[in-house]
Amino acid sequence: MIRICPSILNANFDALPEEIAKVAEVADFLHLDVMDDVFVPNFTFDLARSLEIIEFSQLPVDVHLMIAEVDAKATNYAIDNTAGITVHYEACADPIETLKQIRISGKRAGLAIKPNTPFDAVSELAPYFDMLLVMTVEPGFGGQSFMESMMPKVSQARTWLHQKGYSDRWIQVDGGISIATIRTAYSAGADTFVAGSAVYRSEDPAAMISALREAAAAN
Ligand code: DX5
Ligand code: ZN
Repeated sequence: MIRICPSILNANFDALPEEIAKVAEVADFLHLDVMDDVFVPNFTFDLARSLEIIEFSQLPVDVHLMIAEVDAKATNYAIDNTAGITVHYEACADPIETLKQIRISGKRAGLAIKPNTPFDAVSELAPYFDMLLVMTVEPGFGGQSFMESMMPKVSQARTWLHQKGYSDRWIQVDGGISIATIRTAYSAGADTFVAGSAVYRSEDPAAMISALREAAAAN
């Protein structure tokens, strides 16, 4: 199973319905990067704008919260067209409770870790998350280089989750995913791929998503 989640971080913010429409037929989820200029040094959308985007998206939305003190805020994003909500381990005071609240809201609960956070810090949280997001760049900006050095973390997570009976957990990678890198991440054990600049800086975003899907599975 390969899931492709285009990120609109590098799309034209003034024409988001049109930008999302370009990928709606071929992508699995829309990846929405919410940044608060506190947890990361960049700002994207406030809550009201985020909810508007989720509502008009033709794709179910995978919400990636890069916001501080996220515990009490995460379920604000749980509306009809929200598929999942991912919080950063580094931004949670009580990750177990926050992940539980996301599930209670009816959404898939995602837990993200920054490059410097080891898998060991979150492995015991596996009963509470549906998806682990292993960041393959420092969160904050699109267009950065893929950190291949994160692949042992992805492999370790995949192996551990399998051995402990959590094979159904998705592993997402986010940052620098392109035709050149997706196969490496898939081989390490990722199954869910965020792609921002690869998709929105290409001439044909829909064709790029199909190409990414093929490249992930290529022999
Ligand atoms: C980075 C964001 C990513 C970003 C990825 O903090 O979480 O989702 O949009 O962009 P690319 O694919 O260009 O690295
Ligand atoms: Zn993201």
